[in-house]
Amino acid sequence: MELNKISEGKTKIVYNYDQGHVLLRFKDDITAGDGQKKDILEGKGVINAQTSAILFRLLEKSGIETHYVGMMDERTMIVKKLKMIPVEVVLRNIATGSIVKRLPIKEGEVFEPPIVEFFLKDDRLHDPLINYSHMEYFKLLNRKEAQYIEELMLKVNEVLYNFIKNKGFILYDFKLEFGRLGDKLIIGDEITLDSMRVRDEKGRIYDKDLYRKGADLNTVKNAYEYFLSKIMS
Ligand code: CDP
Repeated sequence: MELNKISEGKTKIVYNYDQGHVLLRFKDDITAGDGQKKDILEGKGVINAQTSAILFRLLEKSGIETHYVGMMDERTMIVKKLKMIPVEVVLRNIATGSIVKRLPIKEGEVFEPPIVEFFLKDDRLHDPLINYSHMEYFKLLNRKEAQYIEELMLKVNEVLYNFIKNKGFILYDFKLEFGRLGDKLIIGDEITLDSMRVRDEKGRIYDKDLYRKGADLNTVKNAYEYFLSKIMS
């Protein structure tokens, strides 16, 4: 089948499929620091496509609508075509990453209730933190929509946190992206170890932080594979 590429990002390619659907093909690329650091991790595309598919199916089963429809092949998802909103929405259960650099918060502080943050997708500006007013000004989301997304993030967290906990891991934080389909706001993009932080009870890291911190590529791949094998069973 001749595929018509719509766009290509750092780790995924979007192809046209039919009127209401596109294909999302996960590449083997791994990047950090807004693309400053990059490598090829053979097999990562398959692992991330499978991880995403499992977690999207889990959300769907829990009554949360996502763009996920099915798999085209082992590294390609069939998804609903959305008008994507260039905002990254992060939910944090435990403090790590950018929040401990930005605010007087210590590594490991537990957020009860969890904290939700919005970031503008802009590599040049390193994805700045934005608020309701900024999102209204840029016509990204109105206040009501932003509040709806915050509530949805909490529901997604309940499902993901408990599922991941049952597999022996702790979900520190995760990022989702949303898109519009008619007047609905739907979860798009991916849910993988590139977009969430997962550690075990001993604090061992299984996500992209390994790569960010300079672990060798094999260690990163083993962690991604191990996590996938656990959530598959
Ligand atoms: O990852 P970094 O420290 O730059 O930013 P963060 O705000 O602490 O990231 C919070 C969560 O969002 C982590 O799970 C990241 O993996 C994820 N994230 C992402 O998926 N894409 C980005 N561009 C930035 C963060």
